[in-house]
Amino acid sequence: MEHHRPGVGSLPQPVSEFTISDQEFRLFQDLVKAHTGIALTEHKRNLVCSRLSKRLRGLGLTSFQRYYDYLNAEAGEAELENFVNAITTNKTDFYRENWHFKFLEQEIVPALKARVARGGERRIRIWSAGCSSGEEPYTIAITLREAIESLLAWDIRILASDIDTEVLARAAQAIYPEERVAEIPRPLLERHFRQGTGAQAGLVQVTREVRNLVTFRRINLLEEPWPIRTVFDCIFCRNVIIYFDKPTQHRLMQRFATYLKDDGHLFLGHSESLYGISDQFAFLHHTIYRKHGGQELLPLRTAEATT
Ligand SMILES: C[S@@+](CC[C@H](N)C(=O)[O-])C[C@H]1O[C@@H](n2cnc3c(N)ncnc32)[C@H](O)[C@@H]1O
Repeated sequence: MEHHRPGVGSLPQPVSEFTISDQEFRLFQDLVKAHTGIALTEHKRNLVCSRLSKRLRGLGLTSFQRYYDYLNAEAGEAELENFVNAITTNKTDFYRENWHFKFLEQEIVPALKARVARGGERRIRIWSAGCSSGEEPYTIAITLREAIESLLAWDIRILASDIDTEVLARAAQAIYPEERVAEIPRPLLERHFRQGTGAQAGLVQVTREVRNLVTFRRINLLEEPWPIRTVFDCIFCRNVIIYFDKPTQHRLMQRFATYLKDDGHLFLGHSESLYGISDQFAFLHHTIYRKHGGQELLPLRTAEATT
């Protein structure tokens, strides 16, 4: 049985057996910024300390300075992936910020159908940039499957990318604990998820039909150029730029604009905005933007997209 010593419980607990000095924290701030664009503020110090402590322990290192030196040495190159995976914040959910999926269903899909009626192609390209463990791109795929009746007649592809290889591996498996889908209405669950049995009890998997619409790739949003030749109808980049500084956000939005079709849509996270960042997009609705350009949803014959 655990014994509680009076008073001890109220003392602040150290975040790990390691401490990070001001100088070490600055080194890691610069390293994280250079590799990911993430600007770590002082109040992330404890978080960084506890997340990186696991890496120090795993490698048998005794200080952050040693870990920093290891990362910068030739032998540490492979460790950079673990380092980045440890630093990223991957919080996500199915149907997170649900108004975006309502907008996709009620505004964008009807407009794309109207474009087809005017002679455009039955082709939809969407990018989930910073997709974490897959809930966002799968919600997009489910929304499209629900909103488009003759799906086989359409050519639909969702690119889902993240810098973090650990979340991408989970995303590709598409297996989630039941609690993660508890809020999804029953009919949608029954149509788009399979219940695990036996050793998989308590888990669900997104159906193959939904999974087939999504391609996962590791893409660092900072890298230039991106290994992408597609021009998209929509880009979802939600709850990602909040971690970047203004110049990084500005550059990213400039580049997103070139990867969007004229009048393509951009979706940001609930606390993100383009105010003071970019004037290449028109504000439509809370965190939903449309690229300034051409006329309303012209047929795509001239603006052909390559994949
Ligand atoms: C908080 S999650 C957001 C997930 C999802 N978009 C959502 O809104 O639910 C942010 C994601 O951005 C990814 N990320 C951070 N910096 C990145 C970069 N430079 N390139 C690509 N992805 C990055 C992280 O790995 C993380 O999975």
